[in-house]
Amino acid sequence: MQHSNSDSTQLPPIVIIDDSKLKQLFLSEILKSECTIFTFASEHEALPRLPEIRPQCILVDMERPGEDGLATINHIKSLSVTADVPIILITSTDDGDTERRALEHGVVDFVGNKYAPEIIRNRVKNQIELYGYRRELERQVDLKTRSVLELQDAIMLVLSDLVECRDSLTSGHAQRTRDYAERLMHQLIADGHYVQELSPELVRDIIRAAPLHDIGKVGIEDAVLNKPGRLTKNEFDDMKRHTILGASAIANAMKSLHDNSFLCVLRDISLSHHERWDGTGYPLGLAGNSIPLCGRIMAIPDVYDALVSKRPYKDPYPHEMAVQIIRDGIGSHFDPLIGEAFLRCEQDFAHIAQVRH
Ligand SMILES: [Fe+2]
Ligand SMILES: [Fe+2]
Repeated sequence: MQHSNSDSTQLPPIVIIDDSKLKQLFLSEILKSECTIFTFASEHEALPRLPEIRPQCILVDMERPGEDGLATINHIKSLSVTADVPIILITSTDDGDTERRALEHGVVDFVGNKYAPEIIRNRVKNQIELYGYRRELERQVDLKTRSVLELQDAIMLVLSDLVECRDSLTSGHAQRTRDYAERLMHQLIADGHYVQELSPELVRDIIRAAPLHDIGKVGIEDAVLNKPGRLTKNEFDDMKRHTILGASAIANAMKSLHDNSFLCVLRDISLSHHERWDGTGYPLGLAGNSIPLCGRIMAIPDVYDALVSKRPYKDPYPHEMAVQIIRDGIGSHFDPLIGEAFLRCEQDFAHIAQVRH
C-alpha cells in the first residue's frame, strides 16, 4: 500500500485499487491536492484495510490479474463500512459494454488516461462531495428521528402515568405488560415464529404501545373502573368499552397524520388485546389470524399480569397457577405459537413480576 499526501488529516481518504504502478502514480499525482490516497495492487490487499481507512471514494481498475472488477465492486458493496461509498471505475478503453455492466453494479463514474487530469480531479471531487452531503443528510435525519422518538416516548410515558392515575387498582400494570411483551416477542423471534411480521420497527412500536393498551380506561367512569369488588354484568359490559374508546381516540388522532405505524399499532393493540383466538373475545369477536398480531401478543402479558396481581376481588395467583391457566388457554384464548413461546420464557415473566411489583 502506498499512502500519499503530507497533510493527510485534512483531506478525505480515497482508495485506488489498480495493479499498474504507472496508473497509480498517474492518478495519485492528479488527486493528491484533493485527497489522502491509499493505493493497492489488488482487492485482496485492499479489502481488509477499508474499515480502518474509511474511504469516501474508491477507484477500481476493471482488469487485474486473477481478480474480476465486477466481483471487486460487489465485495466492496457487501461491506457495511463501504456499502454506500461511491465507486469510480478506472478505464482506459471505450468499451461501452464494460461501462454499462459497471453502472449496473453500482459504479457511479469513470476515470482513466483518456480523460484530462482536470476532468478526473473534478469527477472524484464531485463524488466525494456528494457522498459527504448524503452522509450529513443521513446524520440529520437520524438526529431528527431520534428526537421525534424520544418525544414520542416521553408523551407515551405521561399518558400511561395518567391512565394509571385513574385506574388505581392496577398499579404498575402498564409498565409490567410492556416488559412482558418485549420478552415474549424476543422469544417468538428466537423460536423462528412470526419473524417476517416482527420487524425491528414493529417490535419497537409494540414495546412503545404496550403500556397504553388500556388507554381507553380514561373514558370509563370511576364507579366502574375503581370499584372495590367484582363487576356486575352491566358494569363489565361498560368496562369492555375501554377497547373501543381507546382505539377510536387513536383513530381520530391518525386523521391528521399521513402514515404513522406507531399509532396504527397503538390503535390495534387498544382494540384487540381482549380478543380470543377462538373468537369468543371482545369487542369484535375476531378469531385466529384476523386478530392483529400485536393484540394476540398483548393478550398474554395482560392476562398473566392480571393473574399474578392483587385485585379487589382476588389475591395474587402464584406464578405456577398463572402459567397453568395460560397453558390451558393455548388454542382457545391464546394464539398457539405465542402461547408456546410464553411457556418457553415463563420464568422470565416470573422474574419481571417479582422485580416490577
Ligand atoms: Fe384491557
Ligand atoms: Fe390491561
